[in-house]
Amino acid sequence: MTSATAQPNDPGESTESAEDRVRIFDTTLRDGEQAPGFSMDRRAKLCMAQALESLGVDVLEAGFPQASPDDFAAVEEIARSLRNTTVCALARCQTGDIDTSARALERAHRSRIHLFLSTSPLHREHKLGMSKQQVLDTAVASILHARKYCADVEFSAEDALRTEPEFLVEVFSAAIAAGATTVNVPDTVGYTTPSEIYELFTYLRQHVRDAHKAVFSSHCHDDLGMAVANSLAAVSGGARQVECTINGIGERAGNAALEEIVMALKVRAPRFGLRTNIDTHKLYPTSRLLSQVTGQAVQRNKAVVGDNAFAHESGIHQHGMLKHRNTYEIMRPEDVGIAETTLVLGKHSGRHALRQRLEALGHKLDDEAMDSVFKRFKALADRKRDIRDEDLEALALGQDPDATGPWHLTHLNTSSHLGSNATAAVKLRHDDGREVGEAAIGDGPVDAVLRAIERATGTDMELTGFHVRAISEGGDAQGQAQLTARHAQREWNGSSVSTDIIEATAHAALAIINRIERQVPKQHPQHSFTAERSHGGLHPDRRAHGRVQQETSA
Ligand code: KIV
Ligand code: ZN
Repeated sequence: MTSATAQPNDPGESTESAEDRVRIFDTTLRDGEQAPGFSMDRRAKLCMAQALESLGVDVLEAGFPQASPDDFAAVEEIARSLRNTTVCALARCQTGDIDTSARALERAHRSRIHLFLSTSPLHREHKLGMSKQQVLDTAVASILHARKYCADVEFSAEDALRTEPEFLVEVFSAAIAAGATTVNVPDTVGYTTPSEIYELFTYLRQHVRDAHKAVFSSHCHDDLGMAVANSLAAVSGGARQVECTINGIGERAGNAALEEIVMALKVRAPRFGLRTNIDTHKLYPTSRLLSQVTGQAVQRNKAVVGDNAFAHESGIHQHGMLKHRNTYEIMRPEDVGIAETTLVLGKHSGRHALRQRLEALGHKLDDEAMDSVFKRFKALADRKRDIRDEDLEALALGQDPDATGPWHLTHLNTSSHLGSNATAAVKLRHDDGREVGEAAIGDGPVDAVLRAIERATGTDMELTGFHVRAISEGGDAQGQAQLTARHAQREWNGSSVSTDIIEATAHAALAIINRIERQVPKQHPQHSFTAERSHGGLHPDRRAHGRVQQETSA
């Protein structure tokens, strides 16, 4: 189902291969990151950006530089760091936005400015207060302005799926004439269906003037659960760029999931006749990395990367699988980077074996990162007999809590007794040299630890989500604690892994406080390490929102 008309080439790519290829435009760090609960700090964004480049995404939307100085800095840092992937910055059709995006992209090896403007009647009337002609003029003027900075300009007609198709033809024809090299057709509110979007792309590709001069792109949201199906239908209708996110994160119900689109194109290659540049073996590690840096677990039954995606529990399925894998398996776990063996290393394993195994799992570490992982591997091996692949992944993906700072946990002591309150004592070290100790009592050891940490750091947060799950099997499995909290009207996430779930919780809470402090620096009062017997310092809402969900199987 390839389209009849060739689409423009990337430098060095032949017309024939450009036609066969679907460009993957990843917006995990922009549309994904702006969803509540998925915010990432600059360090996390850079780490994700590097993983996405190594995954093979063609374009990476790094942020919306005009939105905040932090967004600007993240885009600038990513632009400087990536070599092969095109780094893209989002801008409204306003001169100030375009100038700011261009500045953020100045040091990029390959850059794109992504302009968006609403085109639907609803948005024209109620959001913009613009006539059709004003929308057209604004789009054209903005594209011309952006082209002064950048040869690669994308124009998005926001709410395209609720726009009159004839007007979309006018807008995209004018956009291409003004120099847009990609025209994007967003289903902003997740409203369309596969047959409808297929027809729209077919119509646009036939009627837009000089359609062959631009790449047509889809951008689908998942409000009705059809984002991936709609993206694939758009591809069948001629889209040669798909905008998507890892794990399908994004506004409201999310964006189309990158891993699902890529694997659908690969598994059903004979039907689509199209390819992507994605190294599918890195899909699973990238998905895990995102889960780690956002502190949000992937649902178990998530297609392609969920824990159950390749589990065959039913006897009939297992029987079939033993006779011939293909009876119930359309892709292999190793195709997406899930390792075949899980039991690997132990106390006596050396650095070389660890590096080899990590590389087989898709984690290439430089010497400094390897030193840190090896140190934590040895510490873990002292506490846990069998080190499984899941444990190694957690070590490789997990930031060393002592390396991120500014706060570091140096001491933790908790006790709980049936029928009475729990107590916790913590000692923390700050990068500025302060040593702070606090103690607190709470409704359980977790509550007590969180209160003690809040007091020691002087940072209040309202806990809004708390999940603990075992990351592998067995009684000595490591537990991952994932916390979400509100502070300064924002959601913050933190996660950590340990054989001791209270310790994991303490590190996860500290990860949140470190994120807050790195972005909202402040002066801390001096504290001393004293035993406490009161509930002072408790955020009033914590008890109402705190929730523990203990999962026992991996
Ligand atoms: O959903 C949408 O319309 C967008 C645009 C900015 C492309 O995210
Ligand atoms: Zn969107």
